[in-house]
Amino acid sequence: MTVDGLPVVLEKGMTVYDAARQAGVDIPVLCHRDGLHPAGGCGVCTVEDKASARLLPACVTRAEHEMVIETGTDCAVAARKDALELLLSDHLADCEPPCEIACPSGLPIMRMLRDLAEGRVQEAAALARQYPCVCGPEALCEKACRRKALGGAVAIRALHLVLAGDVLAGQPDSVTANRREPPRFRSWMTGLNETMLPLLCHEIGPRQFCDDAPFVEISSPAVSYEARRCMQCGCLKPNDCRLRELCAQVDARQRTFKGASRAVIRRHSRGFRFDSARCVLCGICVRYAQQVGASIAPAFHGRGFNEFIGPPLGRTWDDVPEEILSACAAACPTGAMTFQHRQ
Ligand code: SF4
Ligand code: SF4
Ligand code: FES
Repeated sequence: MTVDGLPVVLEKGMTVYDAARQAGVDIPVLCHRDGLHPAGGCGVCTVEDKASARLLPACVTRAEHEMVIETGTDCAVAARKDALELLLSDHLADCEPPCEIACPSGLPIMRMLRDLAEGRVQEAAALARQYPCVCGPEALCEKACRRKALGGAVAIRALHLVLAGDVLAGQPDSVTANRREPPRFRSWMTGLNETMLPLLCHEIGPRQFCDDAPFVEISSPAVSYEARRCMQCGCLKPNDCRLRELCAQVDARQRTFKGASRAVIRRHSRGFRFDSARCVLCGICVRYAQQVGASIAPAFHGRGFNEFIGPPLGRTWDDVPEEILSACAAACPTGAMTFQHRQ
């Protein structure tokens, strides 16, 4: 057979993907992972066999002598883009939270609010001081905040100032240094409504912080209440997401296909977070856990459009061993599973 015109000597059991690798040709994959049994399904590895005039998923198709595989034909590239855009139509999640995109100082707002909500006040204060507040009372972050329509924007600016203490304004140089480069591709959370609030944040109540209120103490319950209102909209792996990388390569659009959206589930267990909106149902976590013989491990549930990943029936994520959660999070190609080791 040939791959992109390069001859390949076939070995027993080789897939088209293996043959391409042997020829030094890189085929993009999402649900496939070296060392795991191939499952197929995402369509991202589609190539064209000129001999049979068929589009084939390279990771699960057995290589055959007469094949003439082309990886970069218009049909193959279009099929790969369609596969990614189908996944995106149901990926109702922000790569970066809108508050951070709007923030001129580059403050990692989500992390600051998470630290504050979880009682790591010193860490939150260190961030607030590292990225001084420069936007003035207009608070661009709050204008962009997704909670604006759900009880009022999180009082980000007030919390930033409370935490930063005496460092109230930055120098222009530090602002330029802190500003991030715009990324190549971003997906967005859409369809947010009040029923999703309890699933996304610990505090569903309205904003209670007044901008003209006297300076409050960091330890005040009002501060942690406000931080807990943050829905943590953004991804915890924004720079380590295979889906994002592949979408950028083919200039994929989130709105090409429109469909009903799946239910949102977000669960925390120890340092582990599962965020169903980011899951592409690739099954890598399930196959990995099976391969290492984990007895309590992530599993598929439901069917068709209601399919989702979760702990095994009758169990919770707390029952899954920490090392399995950590390894599954490392293998997960998106931000659906993340794990942050506790200090
Ligand atoms: S809810 Fe939190 S993460 Fe989302 S935009 Fe508002 S402050 Fe940012
Ligand atoms: S949680 Fe991650 S690894 Fe598991 S199926 Fe979803 S995207 Fe794939
Ligand atoms: S990578 Fe081959 S079907 Fe998903």
